[in-house]
Amino acid sequence: MSLKCIALVGSLRKGSYNRLLLRAALELKPADLEIEEFHIGQIPLYNEDLREMGFPPQVEALREKIRKADALLLITPEYNYSMSGVLKNAIDWASRPPDQPFNDKPAAIMGASGSILGTGRAQYHLRQTCVYLNLHVLNKPEVMIARAGDKFDVNGRLTDETARKLISELLANLAAWTRRLRARE
Ligand SMILES: Cc1cc2nc3c(=O)[nH]c(=O)nc-3n(C[C@H](O)[C@H](O)[C@H](O)COP(=O)(O)O)c2cc1C
Repeated sequence: MSLKCIALVGSLRKGSYNRLLLRAALELKPADLEIEEFHIGQIPLYNEDLREMGFPPQVEALREKIRKADALLLITPEYNYSMSGVLKNAIDWASRPPDQPFNDKPAAIMGASGSILGTGRAQYHLRQTCVYLNLHVLNKPEVMIARAGDKFDVNGRLTDETARKLISELLANLAAWTRRLRARE
């Protein structure tokens, strides 16, 4: 039986390198892992007053997708040494009680940025958030695509062979990790 994975991409930019990473992931994933993006661009800014009136429909939809997913793929750019605000906003909304939907789910993280550290700092902030959410994030491989502008061709294809290998390995590990966690049940 194939596994369902929901992907969140933390950049809304049309030419986003991080969305191109998702494209590469769709190409490189194992056959038994289905990856579907949930677009987080329409989620309103978090406001506790709004939540008290009930989750907005886009947030309810996201929570439902996460609840039904076997695994998560979080793809983040690096903004000021952290994850992007749009990704954090989506996570904050989805994480509110009752029935916090991230709880006990396997997850993988990757990201691309222009710097030589390729979202390393952002990913470690995101990992910290995942601790609170009780997500089980894969440790390795770390997929931190540095100098992203040099890694894609004019058609948006990821051309860097090392990066492609790391993404294949990450997604194969995510599928195996998800099955291992399921075997406990
Ligand atoms: C507000 C802002 C802050 C940024 N801060 C960082 C940073 O701390 N480290 C970094 O490597 N790149 C930083 N960048 C550059 C982004 O990594 C780069 O724009 C990247 O392409 C964004 O991802 P995207 O292509 O998916 O939109 C920043 C960009 C913006 C807009």
